[in-house]
Amino acid sequence: MVENDQTATPEIKAFVIGDPISHSRSPLIHGHWLKKLEIAGSYETVTVNTGDLASFVGALKSGQNGFVGGNVTIPHKETVFAQVDHVDDIARTIGAANTIWLEGGQLMATNTDAYGFVANLDASSPGWDACEKAVVMGAGGASRAILYALKERGITDIRLINRTLSRAESLAACFGPSITPGGMQDLPAALKGAGLFVNTSSLGMDGAAAPDLDFSAMTKGALVTDIVYAPLKTPFLAKAEAQGIKIVDGLGMLLHQAVPGFAIWFGTRPEVTDELRQIIINDLELHA
Ligand code: ATR
Repeated sequence: MVENDQTATPEIKAFVIGDPISHSRSPLIHGHWLKKLEIAGSYETVTVNTGDLASFVGALKSGQNGFVGGNVTIPHKETVFAQVDHVDDIARTIGAANTIWLEGGQLMATNTDAYGFVANLDASSPGWDACEKAVVMGAGGASRAILYALKERGITDIRLINRTLSRAESLAACFGPSITPGGMQDLPAALKGAGLFVNTSSLGMDGAAAPDLDFSAMTKGALVTDIVYAPLKTPFLAKAEAQGIKIVDGLGMLLHQAVPGFAIWFGTRPEVTDELRQIIINDLELHA
């Protein structure tokens, strides 16, 4: 028997921190990939409240807690900026980080939500970005990543619709002239001739009905998507589907946004598969 085997590969450890954190599906996603790819690693949930963020990050930087990096979620996505050494342009523009890692003794931060959004549409509806006009509903934190992604993909006419017009106006101002803010009353006109509608608002999450929209005013082959994935078929998606419009649900974005983090921490780029999607759907149904 070999005692204290020095040749054994040490386990690579990653985390998701937040408060509350028990609802996170990230451990299921990363756990699945670790098993599939036979990587000696772990991905664990750590409850870190606001007062403990600095000490958690301190232990991470010093190597004391043995993690290589991890995901950051509510309430730390914005405040973690102050704790890291380098924030990339994507995270800075979006105003939040969801992925951090140690690199050459420095703590780095990025945001993979915009990547997850486009990778999901690329996989589910190739050619989606050929549209000239897009409508984004909602002007909260989640909307920023979508606006960033759409601009990056070269969509030049983006209508940003929000219940509170002033919020849409200030968010649009951060992204320049390709984004036109509007209130809910502007939604029907915005949809006319649009090739893409994205719901980023929490409208419909709690079972409330979506507004009565005429998606048929959109272009032929238009796409309606929602970044909310619980329920999987949100009121917006159900309405669009009933009107014969192509839909893509938000679960794929959750799966794809996890890919870059896994690749950074564990050194292998994982695949988003139907098998993984089904694992998360089963979990969503279990906890519905
Ligand atoms: P997140 O960071 O997840 O985007 P948020 O900052 O609370 O969350 O933003 C939620 C978004 O959903 C906002 O755009 C909000 O509109 P307001 O800015 O007017 O609050 C939108 N939203 C929530 N409930 C809504 C409702 N019942 N009708 C219309 N929009 C709603």
